[in-house]
Amino acid sequence: MMRTVFFKKALAVAASAVLASAFLTVKADEGMWLPSLISQRIGDMQAKGFRLSAEDIYSINQASLKDAVVLFGGGCTGELISSEGLLLTNHHCGYAQIQKHSSVEHDYLKDGFWAMDRSEELPNPGLEVWFLDRMEDVTGAVLDGYEPGMTEQQRDSVVRTNSEAIAGKAEKDGTGLRADVESLYYGNQYFLFVYRVFKDVRLVGAPPSSIGKFGGDTDNWMWPRHTGDFSIFRIYADKDNNPAEYSEDNVPYIPKKYFKISLGGVSEGDFTFIYGFPGRTQEYIVSEAVRYISEISDPHKIALRTLRLDIQDRYMSASQAVRIQYSSKNAAVSNSWKKWQGEMRGIRKMNTVETKKENERLFEEWAAGSEYSGIVGRLDSLYRLMEPYAFAADYYNETARAIELTSFAAEYARRLEKAAGVSSPDEATQARESAKRLAAAFYKDYYMPIDKESFIALMDMFDRNIPSGFKPEYFTESMGRYGSAEAWADSLFGNSVFSDSSALTKTVAAACADGVGTDITLLTDDPAVEFGNEFRKWYMEGIRSVVQRLGSEITLLYRDYMKGQMEFNKDRALYPDANLTLRVAYGSVQGYSPADGTYYLPMSTIEGIMQKDNPDIFDYNIPQRLRDIYAEKDYGEWTVTDASGRLTVPVCFIATNHTSGGNSGSPVINADGDLIGINFDRVWEGTMSDIVFDPDLCRNISLDIRYVLFIIDKVAGAGHLIDEMTFTD
Ligand code: ARG
Ligand code: ASP
Repeated sequence: MMRTVFFKKALAVAASAVLASAFLTVKADEGMWLPSLISQRIGDMQAKGFRLSAEDIYSINQASLKDAVVLFGGGCTGELISSEGLLLTNHHCGYAQIQKHSSVEHDYLKDGFWAMDRSEELPNPGLEVWFLDRMEDVTGAVLDGYEPGMTEQQRDSVVRTNSEAIAGKAEKDGTGLRADVESLYYGNQYFLFVYRVFKDVRLVGAPPSSIGKFGGDTDNWMWPRHTGDFSIFRIYADKDNNPAEYSEDNVPYIPKKYFKISLGGVSEGDFTFIYGFPGRTQEYIVSEAVRYISEISDPHKIALRTLRLDIQDRYMSASQAVRIQYSSKNAAVSNSWKKWQGEMRGIRKMNTVETKKENERLFEEWAAGSEYSGIVGRLDSLYRLMEPYAFAADYYNETARAIELTSFAAEYARRLEKAAGVSSPDEATQARESAKRLAAAFYKDYYMPIDKESFIALMDMFDRNIPSGFKPEYFTESMGRYGSAEAWADSLFGNSVFSDSSALTKTVAAACADGVGTDITLLTDDPAVEFGNEFRKWYMEGIRSVVQRLGSEITLLYRDYMKGQMEFNKDRALYPDANLTLRVAYGSVQGYSPADGTYYLPMSTIEGIMQKDNPDIFDYNIPQRLRDIYAEKDYGEWTVTDASGRLTVPVCFIATNHTSGGNSGSPVINADGDLIGINFDRVWEGTMSDIVFDPDLCRNISLDIRYVLFIIDKVAGAGHLIDEMTFTD
């Protein structure tokens, strides 16, 4: 009897599971959860092995793990690992800082950098880290004054006014606070996030790129991986431990909480948890939007970037100076280029457009006669209307805006124009100084042959792929006048005063000579400025305005569609899309099968580094020191014995945690809340996870903390940093 009842119930559960999974199923390990609501997930986390409580993860009453996690540099995550403000993030997250301190004489990218005492730690003006002080559901207060029947503009203005008031009030609660109200679930919910912002963040250490970027863009987004992708910073505070601008008198920040480090390592199946700031996902968009991404936008953007990368690579391999100048830019261009390829293939492989279409049919069936009826159709038509504009916007970003000289020139002229326009001499000086700084940074890393060739290639593509009705008149006229992109480039780069930094300095000095107003017509008439301005005007007036108008109609519909999806999937918790707010993702260490007949193990070791090592290939040329250590098996206390009894050092591992761009540098935490690694990437076959998550293929890639310690100790000889850390075992 019992048996049959149980059986029937099981069948019913199975049947409803099948039904539900036809729609939006949040499969095992998918999801980026809000820390303040983690009590809703903690049961599941504990069932999967986690041994701490929800309060340990997020608490406003006591120090919790959230107090050891920061938003680093506005786009990465970092974590505190000592009571003296020591912070760990990725090499690629600190890359811009490492690069800024580098020159041919002191090439920290190439040779690495290690501060041997605190006085050698390098300041980084402009770099900020944000600690989340608290977060709070403020939906009621944000919508206070909103009444059904208001137009979307009226609603927006209510939301904006209330949000500013709420955030403004929150910022007055203490020093260095910064508050934002963020929309979740397309405006179905609003949360206040209050951060403490620290501005004195110094570079402490970075391995050479041959370790920190080992495998380079060849291995980027790939598994098996052997990249030692970490760098170390230190947060400084004033004498009262409060945030302060850089000052020599500042002292190391004493955090409320820092991670203890576990040397226990991982095995397949172990629970892992990622705490960090994923930037952007779009898990709930309609099939039509996915089709645009995978069939149109991604392929075009990939093609445009292939052209730029080929040009950069050619000049970079010919000159070490150019390699330094373009390393950071090249990595950024290459990174999305490669991700989009994985994303496009993943979406196609998963048949996401078709699956979503089928789900949309089921949704519409369910919604018949309700307020949700017809939403999908309306979204589809709006997307179709928007497509040529979205395409033009993509092209603008990947062509005109990718040309360095013209983008710089237009921005420089804007700043000088501002200087000429303001009445207070102080403001004028400030604007002029900011233009000067912009120029200094620009020329340090500018190599015109790359830019000019890119100009030609990109303008040719623009000409070929943007329909004539959409092209800016300025573009058509210029192409007509010069006859080709080459001739146009010769004229523009040949005649622009910006092509020569000393000519620019002289021109500006002459314009400002009388000390009062500045006559900058010389600059605004410059062909580089003209190019930047004309394209910008075309984009702002003809493209962006339409994208924004249709975009806000689309967002409005998504608000209802999202609400409908949550009702349609009542028994399933749907996580809010990532929006660079703090999230928890949990899962386990797992290998995967990228193709028939192949299975990838979840861990890599130093053996793989030696297998890839090749002095003739830039990306795989490791430091001699590492070769020597390997030859002598001199791994010290970081030695582990692998399954076959061999002595080795663990390097990276993969797991099923749902992460996104922004999760780089995130702490990887074990079942006891201790640090076992640093997240830095995803596998290529799974980069569609920003749009659709496949539990079989989506894996995040982390650096094993023991490899980090091995490098610091054995390769860098910076053991004093390890002495600052706390170990659990
Ligand atoms: N793919 C990683 C992320 O999206 C690492 C990127 C930096 N590394 C590189 N080789 N470009 O940020
Ligand atoms: N590498 C990415 C980052 O910088 C992480 C990812 O997209 O998985 O945040």
